[in-house]
Amino acid sequence: MTQLVPVLSAHWDEKDSFTIEAYTRHGGYKASQKALAIDPDAVIQLVKDSGLRGRGGAGFPTGMKWGFIPQGDNKDHYLVVNADESEPGTCKDMPLLMANPHVLIEGCIIACHAIRAKHAFIYIRGEVTHVVRRMNQAIEDAYKAGHLGNGVELVLHVGAGAYICGEETALLDSLEGFRGQPRLRPPFPAIAGLYARPTVVNNVESISAVPAIIANGAEWYQSMGTEKSKGTTLYSLSGHVNNPGQFEAPLGITLREILELSGGIRTGHTLKFWTPGGSSTPIFTQEHLDTPLDYEGVSAAGSMLGTKALQIFDETTCVVRAVLRWTEFYKHESCGKCTPCREGTWWLVQILRDLEAGKGTEADLAKLLDLCDNILGRSFCALGDGATSPITSSIKYFRDEYIAHITHGGCPFDPVASTLFVGAGA
Ligand SMILES: Cc1cc2nc3c(=O)[nH]c(=O)nc-3n(C[C@H](O)[C@H](O)[C@H](O)COP(=O)(O)O)c2cc1C
Repeated sequence: MTQLVPVLSAHWDEKDSFTIEAYTRHGGYKASQKALAIDPDAVIQLVKDSGLRGRGGAGFPTGMKWGFIPQGDNKDHYLVVNADESEPGTCKDMPLLMANPHVLIEGCIIACHAIRAKHAFIYIRGEVTHVVRRMNQAIEDAYKAGHLGNGVELVLHVGAGAYICGEETALLDSLEGFRGQPRLRPPFPAIAGLYARPTVVNNVESISAVPAIIANGAEWYQSMGTEKSKGTTLYSLSGHVNNPGQFEAPLGITLREILELSGGIRTGHTLKFWTPGGSSTPIFTQEHLDTPLDYEGVSAAGSMLGTKALQIFDETTCVVRAVLRWTEFYKHESCGKCTPCREGTWWLVQILRDLEAGKGTEADLAKLLDLCDNILGRSFCALGDGATSPITSSIKYFRDEYIAHITHGGCPFDPVASTLFVGAGA
């Protein structure tokens, strides 16, 4: 059985884990010293060899992304860390920053060296004022200790709290002071990103994984995980479980194993459905309990690993109501730039509201699927695609429940027993 392996979360239970003293006590800031003594290209190669893949959702190889930054171009290069963490159910970057902000700062120093950047920006969502305070303190301490300011300047930028600003090009627009809306690609950020300069955008967890890789070597990282999904990662567990929280394990662990190690479904109840990677990823059911939670395993089973946000719903939950709630979120967060997403999510909510209230018809189910078909792959960015996932997958697995709303003339669920936990990270 796969076990939990705390690497990033190794010292989170120590009272002072977030301080520079604790980080240094555990060997912190040695990896950056080691990396700075190595040629930048060799650092990129090491990260490539480790097999680290981006933890922000798409799983793009981190070393390869760094390798796209043009060299010898006499332009400023930038590192941008995506700390927007808005995907419903996702709650791993903020706990990481609260427990160990210095590992991200050290990761930034190493990444800047590798891509030959002198400036790094952390874009953090506006609502998390406690994390902003902690991060500001850590940055101040890192400057005082001389880790920052000697080749790398680090700026913490506080966003206004919009899901779209997690999309990397909307994030760059927002960082530049414009309204956060996605940009047309190409050019990709590696060629023309922040201020039209070569830019790497990486998730908090991706950059925070780098110091341990430099310290312990690529082979050590490679030895954990599965064939194409290497290393450990933070799974966010939320919803109808006895012990919600962050659980770090090698990629490829199954939900059954995580539940066994974490205390299981809330006592006296059974699993009904769950998301493997946040609400933008098609839902799973009981039959997927043994699906390996790595990029390949989840996609072979018809979903996506996404942000590894495991939202658990037991038999008391009305799937139609949960899907309606998620869809309201996407409608609210749609930036309005493209018609399929802006208008489509609005119509999805109208139809789902009727269905949930028992005022729908079977023709509405066909209409929902037709709308999803016209949003998926036709929106400007992946926000629209994500909005369709809960709808199409829930109709696939729980069509009977949608029909029951129609024949029952309303929601057949006891509204008191069904306590929704949707959107822990939102
Ligand atoms: C609507 C939307 C929201 C996103 N939100 C986030 C986010 O909050 N954090 C994040 O790291 N990536 C988010 N992403 C993915 C980013 O666009 C990008 O792929 C990621 O930051 C790349 O980092 P990585 O290579 O380290 O995974 C989002 C994408 C979309 C389409």
